[in-house]
Amino acid sequence: MTGLKKIKTAVFISGRGSNLNNLIKFSKTKKSPIIIDLVISSKKAFGLKYANQHKIKNKIINFKKNKIAEKNCLTILNKRNIKFICLAGFMKILSNDFIKKFKGKIINIHPSYLPKYKGLNTSVRALQNNEKFSGCTVHYVAAKLDSGKIILQKKVKITKNETVSSLDKKIIKEEHKLYRAAVLKIFN
Ligand code: GAR
Repeated sequence: MTGLKKIKTAVFISGRGSNLNNLIKFSKTKKSPIIIDLVISSKKAFGLKYANQHKIKNKIINFKKNKIAEKNCLTILNKRNIKFICLAGFMKILSNDFIKKFKGKIINIHPSYLPKYKGLNTSVRALQNNEKFSGCTVHYVAAKLDSGKIILQKKVKITKNETVSSLDKKIIKEEHKLYRAAVLKIFN
């Protein structure tokens, strides 16, 4: 795909940004249908360094007041003609109104094999319940948390002596592959 034809995409983050970095790298490959044009962070997050490294426009938007925050997001999204949004460790909940404005155009990655373990601390809960596997899921964002239509998901085995940290490491590795595959699946 040529740069001109790629779909202008924004990535929303709140933290470390490894999925953001993965999406940026992917977007620079020939086969990527998307180009990362904007990064929005709900706080001064570590992940913003990847946006800066790659000279991608980025903005911190304070989500203490959700309505105002979403209005500010929409202003910049429209100004930059963004057509697609990838949530990548974005820890705020978007309102139904906002989601409607980008209907079918917002996707999220979640560190569990949905519909199991929606919400936070997914690996802690999976281990507490002696699950045999966890995983990750890329799904469309719907008004109900972690409940939109699933695009792709991948199981990750939980082994003997697994810790939260070892499980999280295995999952994040799979997340990076899954996010790329999900974007390709949507646009190809
Ligand atoms: C990832 O594991 C992602 O699936 C999860 O946060 C982590 C962000 O890591 N997202 C959620 O829990 C969303 N509810 P990253 O900042 O290194 O991409």
